[in-house]
Amino acid sequence: MSRWGTLDPMTACITGATAGIGLAFAEELAAQGSDLVVVARDTTRLEALAERLGSQHGVTVEVLAADLATDAGCARVMDRLADASRPIDVLVNNAGFGVNQGFVAGSLADEERLLDVLVRATLRLTHAALPGMVQRGRGNVINVSSVAGWVPMGTYAAAKSWVTVFTEGLGADLSGFYR
Ligand SMILES: NC(=O)c1ccc[n+]([C@@H]2O[C@H](COP(=O)([O-])OP(=O)(O)OC[C@H]3O[C@@H](n4cnc5c(N)ncnc54)[C@H](OP(=O)(O)O)[C@@H]3O)[C@@H](O)[C@H]2O)c1
Repeated sequence: MSRWGTLDPMTACITGATAGIGLAFAEELAAQGSDLVVVARDTTRLEALAERLGSQHGVTVEVLAADLATDAGCARVMDRLADASRPIDVLVNNAGFGVNQGFVAGSLADEERLLDVLVRATLRLTHAALPGMVQRGRGNVINVSSVAGWVPMGTYAAAKSWVTVFTEGLGADLSGFYR
């Protein structure tokens, strides 16, 4: 029994799988026997992770290099998530970062990049993954939010507030709460 409880063997797609919280998801799910699709920008780090987890746990680890701040990067991952011939059972929307700057003097491009990764990519990937999960009657989407979402403090907090409300609303919708 893992500290998160056990899940049936499956295939999980984790964004931001090469460091921090995403890496912890990747290590735990691989240890439970799940095949992985690991997403981040740095191909070298992704390949090293795939090699290590594959040899440690005997699972298949597919590398998907993508910048989730871009339309092309999101599209690559969405195509993989929607591929019915290789179903994804668990999507972990984890990739993210903060911008350490004041809003007024700060870079607008950096604020927008944050929203693109934390909000737009989470929206897009979830939208790509869910139809297959609903059709198969099985699947999980885990969106990594933050307690920062409860604090009125800049774009990062606002984005995490969106992640929390989006996720709770989707959970209610999919469980039939509104029907
Ligand atoms: N750390 C905390 O204290 C904390 C607390 C609450 C919530 N969170 C949330 O937890 C999540 C993970 O945070 P962390 O601190 O574990 O992050 P981290 O250690 O900095 O790792 C970030 C991961 O995301 C990837 N990534 C970053 N930008 C990306 C992009 N544009 N496209 C694709 N992948 C990208 C990075 O790989 P590449 O650089 O190779 O792309 C890396 O794998 C985030 O959503 C964060 O907001 C963190």
